Amino acid sequence: SILAMEVEQIKKGNYDYYMQKEIHEQPDSLTTTMRGRLIRGGGDNVKGVLLGGLKDHLRTIRRSRRILFIGCGTSYHAGLATRALVEELSGVPVTMELASDLLDRQGPIYREDTAFFVSQSGETADTLQALEYARSCGALCVGVTNTVGSAIARGTHFGVHINAGCEIGVASTKAYTSQIAAMTMIALALGEDTLSSRSRREAIIDDLFNLPDNVKEVLKLDYDMKNLAQELMEEQSLLVFGRGYNYATALEGALKVKEVALMHSEGILAGEMKHGPLALVDETLPIIVIATRDATCSKQQSVIQQLQARKGRLIVMCSKGDADLMCPNGGCRVIEVPQLQDCLQPIINIVPFQLLAYHLTVLRGFNVDQPRNLAKSVTTS
Ligand code: AGP
Repeated sequence: SILAMEVEQIKKGNYDYYMQKEIHEQPDSLTTTMRGRLIRGGGDNVKGVLLGGLKDHLRTIRRSRRILFIGCGTSYHAGLATRALVEELSGVPVTMELASDLLDRQGPIYREDTAFFVSQSGETADTLQALEYARSCGALCVGVTNTVGSAIARGTHFGVHINAGCEIGVASTKAYTSQIAAMTMIALALGEDTLSSRSRREAIIDDLFNLPDNVKEVLKLDYDMKNLAQELMEEQSLLVFGRGYNYATALEGALKVKEVALMHSEGILAGEMKHGPLALVDETLPIIVIATRDATCSKQQSVIQQLQARKGRLIVMCSKGDADLMCPNGGCRVIEVPQLQDCLQPIINIVPFQLLAYHLTVLRGFNVDQPRNLAKSVTTS
């Protein structure tokens, strides 16, 4: 009806689509995710995080033999993006599990394990079944959801709400960045405040405070990403190479492009390039290489050189000011992004991919908010 259409338009505000609105909302949704949970430090207060749902269980989780991150799609990627930080700060090994695969294998889970269930909707059937399975094995089960009162929030022993606000677009955008922010805070809460880790912890907390402004900054790439989308709109395929913290960005960026723009796209761990994918490289196939500054950046530099030697059609994502360093011979398109602590960089780096996927979809004439064959929450397995 006309009324329903008008209500829709009001909910979208000044935007044409929910996905577009949700991408541009991220400075605010991230602020909400962190509100009341970060301690600035100063006076008697030590800089730190406070997660109400977790605070009485931190010792138990720290003593677990293993942590599991379990989810599907984007929610799995959020776990992957924060895995290294949880391992670094807690010292507990983290195993990644796609919910359906854990169920297919009936993989062993023990009472000494802590399993985190990551889900925007809190209703995904595979994740919910994995939760029932892990509970039956006696594991401690923790929810990381965006929906208060959802099945996963109710079925876990306790948890953390990511508070990203309602997400309507089928392609998850703001929930992803809030999941990473929330799981970064979980990592900080799990890590003990030792002298040796203090400066690292404080630097991460400072950059959590800086996050909304930096996301605002990277959103200014909207116009550039529209141009890039124009350049790529007729392509059959797109590869995305990442590693370290940004392996997750490569997988998630490729997922965004395939699910809404209906273009084949593959996220590849750059360390695996020589083990197969390199055979695909020619002058026509577009390849995005994520090479922002972190411990793996010099390895990415040599990946770029090897791709250039094979005349690859490169688009390089690097930290602001690094264009000449990462792409010394010119000849590649560059996306420069603001730089934060390595573990928070996935939040910044995914934004240009979200914008690219959005513009590709509009240009290719597909449905942005409701891609064919997909549902917002997958309640069948
Ligand atoms: C994200 O863009 C996808 N639509 C999809 O992968 C989604 O993340 C997945 O179905 C998991 O959903 P959940 O977070 O609600 O459990």
